[in-house]
Amino acid sequence: MVFLRSLASLLLISSLGLQVLAASTTTKKTTTTKTSTTKTSTKTTTTKTSTKTSSTAKATSTSSGASWSWPNWNSYSDSTDAQWQAAWNITNWAYPHTSGENHNIVANPTDSSEKVLRVFYPAGSFKPSNTPVGGIGFYASPLEIPASANTVTFTYQVYFPSGYNFVEGGKLPGLYGGHDDCSGGNDAETCFSTRNMWRTSGEGESYLYIPKDAQVSSICSNSLIICNSDYGYSVGRGTFDWTTGSWNTITQVLQLNTVGQQDGAITEVHGGSTAFSLGQLVFRQSNYGVAGIDFETFFGGSTSAWATPTDQYTYYRGLSLSYN
Ligand SMILES: *[C@@H]1O[C@H](CO)[C@@H](O)[C@H](O)[C@H]1NC(C)=O
Repeated sequence: MVFLRSLASLLLISSLGLQVLAASTTTKKTTTTKTSTTKTSTKTTTTKTSTKTSSTAKATSTSSGASWSWPNWNSYSDSTDAQWQAAWNITNWAYPHTSGENHNIVANPTDSSEKVLRVFYPAGSFKPSNTPVGGIGFYASPLEIPASANTVTFTYQVYFPSGYNFVEGGKLPGLYGGHDDCSGGNDAETCFSTRNMWRTSGEGESYLYIPKDAQVSSICSNSLIICNSDYGYSVGRGTFDWTTGSWNTITQVLQLNTVGQQDGAITEVHGGSTAFSLGQLVFRQSNYGVAGIDFETFFGGSTSAWATPTDQYTYYRGLSLSYN
């Protein structure tokens, strides 16, 4: 039995190549299916089928793609205006619970001829379940992205005024899939989110909620990753710094894993330079794609040590979302 398994495993590795070597769990599961002498469980069969379906779908999508872009808010005058929110296809306001709070459309601080979004964090605000509520949180799906997309790219510009106090850190927008609320200690078994963060002194990172049990066992020894048993993975902390007094352009490129394999990847580009690129990730355990933008920003962190001591603001413009 053990011999048969190893033999099948060897054959499989030589036929599928290195990628399978990296994904030891998958190799074992697939081997069981291949070796027809073993009792193939329904579960194993399902895993194999979905893997196949997913890679086929991926291949057929290579010639297609689509994009959405939002350079500024020039055509909009009021942050409570439902028009831009309809254009973004905002599906859920997570906090504040009414759409008009903590944000306004204002002149671009570096170019008064343009209008941008400004977000407000009142003094004393940190995690949004606390009061006063700082920042905003909403989910938007302005572009329908198929689960079979090869890569999904999200770009935006964020401006921190000169003298911005980063305190201990805060959240910034990213992408999500599976379902919303993939944050705040959610176990991320059926969802993922890829928000960015600022940390002390403006250090940048991406902050991933991804299914913990499904990752490569060595994930916490990767020097790019800081693991946290209760919350998300901090990835690439300090590989770039958020600037103050000028616009930061940040791009996230996601390559979702093939279901059943540890072959997902994330790349972050800040100010035109690649900050980091990380592979061998599992974003999903069944076949869903990027649902849209998780536009979340607040100070925190779950304790008052993260609170902003004064009223502060950040600004946003130059958004785009695309897939191929
Ligand atoms: C808005 O988002 C929802 C949820 O993702 C989606 O089902 C719907 O198709 C989107 N509507 C438009 C007009 O894109």
